[in-house]
Amino acid sequence: MKRRDFVNWVGLGLIASSLPVAIAACSSQTPSASGNWQTVGTSADLDKTGQLLAKNSPAGPVLIVGTSKAPNLTAVNPTCTHAGCTVGWEPSTKTFLCPCHGSKYGADGKVLKGPATEALKTYAAKIEGSSIVVKPS
Ligand code: FES
Repeated sequence: MKRRDFVNWVGLGLIASSLPVAIAACSSQTPSASGNWQTVGTSADLDKTGQLLAKNSPAGPVLIVGTSKAPNLTAVNPTCTHAGCTVGWEPSTKTFLCPCHGSKYGADGKVLKGPATEALKTYAAKIEGSSIVVKPS
């Protein structure tokens, strides 16, 4: 065997032997980088007013609407898509309202009235024990 062939053979062997480790490292990070449930508050806090704003949660800003007794919770990123103000929940009309320029969003985050043109980002939300957890939907 020539020296060049030997070096190529050893080099290929090193690459081939490290490939499974590299693949395992990448694949183990993929599920945790997206789709993990994040705790954003407690069900006791949500039940006080029927809404809970967690501006600095691990999932980012989240506004949860509902109670721990309701089967479905509504959770959105409350950052208005027009210019970044924080929207509030209006229980009487079941809409998210922006105090800055009057944009209105439905409970599903879709724009009902401008000037905003893009929907609010939504989250899947559920109760786990005494915690409220969300993940991007
Ligand atoms: S920032 Fe919300 S309507 Fe302008």
